Amino acid sequence: MRALVVGTGYGGSVAALRLARAGVDVHMIELGMAWDAPGPDGKIFANTTRPDYRSFWLRTRTKQPISQFLGYPLDKDVPLHTGILDAEDFAGITVYQGRGVGGGSLVNGGMAVTPLRERFPAILPTVDPAEMYATYYPRANAGLGVTSVDVNWWESQDCYQYARVGRKHAERSGFPFVFVPNVYDWDYMKQEAAGTVQKSALDAEVIYGNNAGKKSLQKTYLAQAAATGRVNVSPLHRVTSVSPAAAGGYTVVIDQIDTTGAVLVTKTVRADRVFFAAGSVGTSKLLTRLKATGALPALNGEIGKGWGDNGNVMCGRANHMWDPTGTLQSSMPTAGIDNWDAGGAFAEVAPLPTGIETYASFYLSITRTPRRAEFSWNPATGKVDLSWDRAWKQTSIDMARSIFDKINSKEGTIYRTDLFGAYKIWGDHLTYHPLGGAVLDRATDNHGRLHGYQGLYVIDGSLIPGNTSVNPFVTITALAERNIERIIAEDF
Ligand code: FDA
Repeated sequence: MRALVVGTGYGGSVAALRLARAGVDVHMIELGMAWDAPGPDGKIFANTTRPDYRSFWLRTRTKQPISQFLGYPLDKDVPLHTGILDAEDFAGITVYQGRGVGGGSLVNGGMAVTPLRERFPAILPTVDPAEMYATYYPRANAGLGVTSVDVNWWESQDCYQYARVGRKHAERSGFPFVFVPNVYDWDYMKQEAAGTVQKSALDAEVIYGNNAGKKSLQKTYLAQAAATGRVNVSPLHRVTSVSPAAAGGYTVVIDQIDTTGAVLVTKTVRADRVFFAAGSVGTSKLLTRLKATGALPALNGEIGKGWGDNGNVMCGRANHMWDPTGTLQSSMPTAGIDNWDAGGAFAEVAPLPTGIETYASFYLSITRTPRRAEFSWNPATGKVDLSWDRAWKQTSIDMARSIFDKINSKEGTIYRTDLFGAYKIWGDHLTYHPLGGAVLDRATDNHGRLHGYQGLYVIDGSLIPGNTSVNPFVTITALAERNIERIIAEDF
């Protein structure tokens, strides 16, 4: 019995570990690089403030989420390379995603948030909250190595001055300020602050990878999966087709690429079972194309639907001179402002680790926008389109303003207008949190089995219909833990 897993992010890693422990041989196919060898500077990953050839997925110019500072454009030319962060452009939105063995865990801020239980029914209406909160969220948090910052230490550190300013302003305006856990190794960060180890979070490392301290999937689920001896990983391989094989199981077509993205060789393998874990965008694009072009015609009409951006919108505020946010900022966020019930927004108090004093407070808001888009096959271009409309972000902006208009009014401060283009307040062109496209209990059954085919499964963020009310990876992991347990018990 051989299972093929497409992608090595959260969903794929959970599937690989649990299948391997159940005695199944697993082959993981990953589009991005292995990220296990240092570059010429002796480091595996590039610094956030100095993007280089390692930073972006097949671009010749960076596309940094914050594109400007004080009127100066920040983007620069880089060599074409299979770098770690993909800024994937659709007509109405740029979707940022991690590329490499470990998927999004390589580039994210490590914020590991379990949604409040009373908000769960709106996130995954067909999943029993009792089993999620008793079993699968705890299992996911343990598997990911989620822990909380030592608040006494946090209170005393220069590197969290920005977060304490965020707390002061939230609380003065009457908003609940909540600490959130992270997967960063806090003992390591304490040593960074003490100057006894190589700096990572305290050297601004995050969106192009962390060279130390962060417990990415490479160090958690994937390390355990490798230890079973049953899991093989093929980096720089892209799954392009899956179709029923005459002899049973599935024929999977895979392109091996080089570090410029050129196809070296096309391989065909057979697998008994295939798990789609290419991320919300990767899985949705693949399934939409395979259904439309006749490889998997029996997939149902829900494929490609229910896609959302988790309501992401970014903004900065300009503080007074008596509220500096610090020249040293830990790249690992620890807190948020919760105005979900009253205003539809949960704002991450985010770092802006530039190395200079900016007097800026920076936030990534997650909002309760009802907007959902759809992927569709475009035969003229041979690509999959996404029906997202940039104007839809206004709903999210209005929800984020429920927090920041009030804070600005109380503090007598204004929005920064220099971070996303000249006189542009809102980072409304992007998302870090793509979700949906192969929604649970619609495109699949209630455990991720694709309708229309036996032995095909979806096990990543595409199962979640567009919003998690907080940062998504703990929920993606917990849902994968729930689904794979049932699938192993009943299908293997
Ligand atoms: P994920 O995207 O992790 O993995 C999919 C994998 O499949 C990728 O490695 C991809 O290369 C591969 N793939 C795609 N197509 C393929 C193909 N055809 N063949 C083979 N492989 C293929 N979340 C959070 O909870 N807290 C946080 O702090 C942050 N911060 C954050 C910052 C930034 C900059 C980003 C971009 C994202 C975050 N996130 C986050 C989001 C989080 O990282 C994201 O939700 C998860 O990684 C999604 O997990 P999945 O398992 O769905 O896919």
